[in-house]
Amino acid sequence: MPDTSTAVPSSDRSGATQTLREAMSTGNAVEIDLQSVTKRYPGSPNPAVEDFSLTIPAGQIVVFVGPSGCGKTTTMRMINRLVRPTGGRILIGGEDAAEMKPDDLRRHIGYVVQQAGLLPHLTVRQNIETVPRLLGWKRDRIAERSTELFELVGLDEGEFAGRFPRELSGGQQQRVGVARALAADPPILLMDEPFGALDPITRDRLQSELLKIQRRVRKTIVFVTHDIDEAIKLGDRVVVLKERSRIAQAGPPDEILAEPADRYVRAFIGGGAAVKRLHLVRVEDLELEPYPAFTQGEGYDTIIRQLQASQRDYALLLDDQRRPQRWLHTDELGDRPGQPQHVGQAVSGVVMATTTLHDAMDEMLSSGTGVVPAVDDRGAYLGVVRLDQVTAALEAIHTKPVAEQADATPVQTLAEITGEIDRREIEAEQARQAAAMSGDDA
Ligand SMILES: Nc1ncnc2c1ncn2[C@@H]1O[C@H](COP(=O)(O)OP(=O)(O)OP(=O)(O)O)[C@@H](O)[C@H]1O
Ligand SMILES: [Mg+2]
Repeated sequence: MPDTSTAVPSSDRSGATQTLREAMSTGNAVEIDLQSVTKRYPGSPNPAVEDFSLTIPAGQIVVFVGPSGCGKTTTMRMINRLVRPTGGRILIGGEDAAEMKPDDLRRHIGYVVQQAGLLPHLTVRQNIETVPRLLGWKRDRIAERSTELFELVGLDEGEFAGRFPRELSGGQQQRVGVARALAADPPILLMDEPFGALDPITRDRLQSELLKIQRRVRKTIVFVTHDIDEAIKLGDRVVVLKERSRIAQAGPPDEILAEPADRYVRAFIGGGAAVKRLHLVRVEDLELEPYPAFTQGEGYDTIIRQLQASQRDYALLLDDQRRPQRWLHTDELGDRPGQPQHVGQAVSGVVMATTTLHDAMDEMLSSGTGVVPAVDDRGAYLGVVRLDQVTAALEAIHTKPVAEQADATPVQTLAEITGEIDRREIEAEQARQAAAMSGDDA
């Protein structure tokens, strides 16, 4: 491995993408700094992006959320130079993106778009291996990396590698899209509405998987969506945009929900801000309820003993890989009605450690049971989440400060977070607010 631990004077660097390259070899994430970035498309009277300033910290997921046409895609595509800015600067790992070769830039920045954007005439494997091949990796290294990627995105290599994109479901194609973007282990990942075309269940699953992957790979991820729920669920920071990519508010999701900066952000969040905040608590934040669970081989005596000791009314029947199968009530077990796999009620859904309480609640309500088993990555039983734990979390959220309180100073918070926003606009907004509160007309 090259020695990248000591700082290299910039004059000694052999190429402009050194820093991005360093990050490629060390596996570190890099910061992206957009400074007063503007884009005017030729012939358009208004800029698509006007004076956009934001620092995207290394290793975080920053989500741009805003209505259609507000400039999300344009802003994102200026980072990998698919769109050339007409003003301002973009620093990637401290270096000016304008001075890097566009091809180089794109090979070092993963890019995922809606409907995966896979090349239809290439197999899944060829799609995934595109960038490593362009980078001239050795065959063994490419093969090893592919195997890792199939595992990472949860696709069976033997089954999928030789298929063509059209032979995959939308969700599977999207997984391949993520694998392809991650193939060369780039420090930055740009994702433009990657899950927008999927059904809600698949979308949910891929969102959770993205978070799981991010825990392992720690990239700097810029994610675009127009779905505020998706933004809240995925973002370490959420940037709410209005027309011309103007920043209405930027900050951690909890803060956006608790202290929307203005009427625009509040309207964008829509109803149920408290319920949306359930997206910020995850199953792993709870102490799971240890409902008794047993496999078929264990027999009735064991089950009944466990149930009695636990003083619960229900036990879970697991399969031989400890995956939850059926809920069994004490009464159903009393008179030993036959094999346990034919009694009780089938488990309709499970949640993972990373599932948000919002989605766990959804699962409980749709199964009509008020409880849901939690499982690990392999689907093995961990414990149970109960509806009363969700309501307790909701109550805890309610006791936190909320939006409309008069002493909240949302605009200052906004300035602190983005750091780079036009001061004059903030001051004008503060003056308007002060005037509104004191009843003056400004
Ligand atoms: N190549 C182009 N030439 C001219 N105008 C463009 C071009 N691409 C985008 N625009 C305009 O720039 C503005 C921002 O577009 P952009 O695609 O960035 O929005 P978006 O927020 O990604 O929207 P959506 O949610 O619909 O994807 C729009 O008014 C759009 O019409
Ligand atoms: Mg777009």
